[in-house]
Amino acid sequence: MSKLKFQKPKGMRDIFGEDQEYLDRIYEVVKKISTFYNFQKIDTPILEETELFSKGIGLSTEVVKDQMFSFKTKGGNNLTLRPEGTAPIVRAYIENGMKNMPSPSKLWYFGPMFRYEKPQAGRYRQFLQFGLETLREEGVVRDAEIIAIFYEILKRLKIKNIIVEVNSIGSSCCRPAYIQNLSKYLKSKKQYLCPDCIKRLKTNPLRVLDCKNEKCKMISSQAPKLIDNLCKNCHKDFKELLEFLDELEIPYTLNPYLVRGLDYYTETVFEFFSIEENLQEESKKLALGGGGRYDLLVDLLGEKREGGTPAVGAALGVDRVIELMKENKIEIRKKQKAKIFIAQVCALAKRKSLKLMGEFLSARIPVLESFGKDSLRAQLKMADKSEVEYTLVLGQKEALEGVILVRSMSTGKQTKVKLDKIVQKIKKMLK
Ligand code: HAM
Repeated sequence: MSKLKFQKPKGMRDIFGEDQEYLDRIYEVVKKISTFYNFQKIDTPILEETELFSKGIGLSTEVVKDQMFSFKTKGGNNLTLRPEGTAPIVRAYIENGMKNMPSPSKLWYFGPMFRYEKPQAGRYRQFLQFGLETLREEGVVRDAEIIAIFYEILKRLKIKNIIVEVNSIGSSCCRPAYIQNLSKYLKSKKQYLCPDCIKRLKTNPLRVLDCKNEKCKMISSQAPKLIDNLCKNCHKDFKELLEFLDELEIPYTLNPYLVRGLDYYTETVFEFFSIEENLQEESKKLALGGGGRYDLLVDLLGEKREGGTPAVGAALGVDRVIELMKENKIEIRKKQKAKIFIAQVCALAKRKSLKLMGEFLSARIPVLESFGKDSLRAQLKMADKSEVEYTLVLGQKEALEGVILVRSMSTGKQTKVKLDKIVQKIKKMLK
């Protein structure tokens, strides 16, 4: 096939047809549930200062190192297409003085994110995330609330066999000592590690733990585990979180190697999977969503506060959920099918028909039309194909007399109705 003159950028896609129906359904569910749990919607710009991400997500992370779409503006500013939503939300939280608003700040968002990744199934360069963030309230109950909401959303979308992997990666109280221990162990096994992990030894030894390379996995399986080295407080929090999950009957597994790819996390981290996906090779396993606690991020991005600003959140990979729904042929309620077709045959009838469309819209009666066609035969053929119950025919004579013909598509019977009474009449007929 010859190359098209214009194609969408690599790793990006057009979302239409069936995918749009799934997308609508996902949006409907996340909006309903987030609102029920008193989250407020926030939209932030898709561009932010590059430093927000390098500082917030961490210079040594793959997202910042390799995956950002960054550029310099004509005015000389360094901007980046947002690769994720949490750092921008924290920026907005600080910039809009949300600490002075009633506590906690519970925010939800839905929109495109950008990462320069190798495109493959479930991995795009532009993808949609739905996310929740709860800021400025202590207590594991908020971690459990976010996990419970994500679980409920996936259940409502009829995703089967959902499982949450959970872990605690401790905080500034216990993680530094653990990392020292881990580094010592990993250095002693350096010769078996993959080239990426050898680099990680210097920049971010924790990330060695979730390397998918078989040899690295072997080495990690013998490594000291952070979960066994948590301080008293982090241990208590994690135990409490598991008690919440038990009470909520949310299926979870403990994954001591789950460290997540963004540096801002403290204590709780989690990822959602559908077990069907888990059956795939371990290296190809893709999370439907993930998140965790990030108690130090607000402080790191500029708002120092006595005792810090506790925060927790998660994001759902909407494209991956759409793919799974499609793969499993999950049925969703289709949009109301139109039962009326308007056919028109002259310029005056066309004008009146377009006006009539607005009146049907106000009465919430879906209508089909073919205003671009002039031949009545072609229009009636379309009406027949579209399986409507009634076709309204407006010719020049009817338009001048202020009436319209109503044809029943099942009986072929035709009646004349005054134009200004037609919407009421149809409403009654469809009851
Ligand atoms: P994340 O794990 O990087 O976390 O992304 C969340 C979800 O976005 C992933 O589980 C995945 O489903 C989806 N996702 C990520 N990259 C891609 C891609 N290239 N193509 C398609 N889907 C993708 C975050 O972004 C954190 N901000 C989540 C969070 C919120 N943590 C605390 N609050």
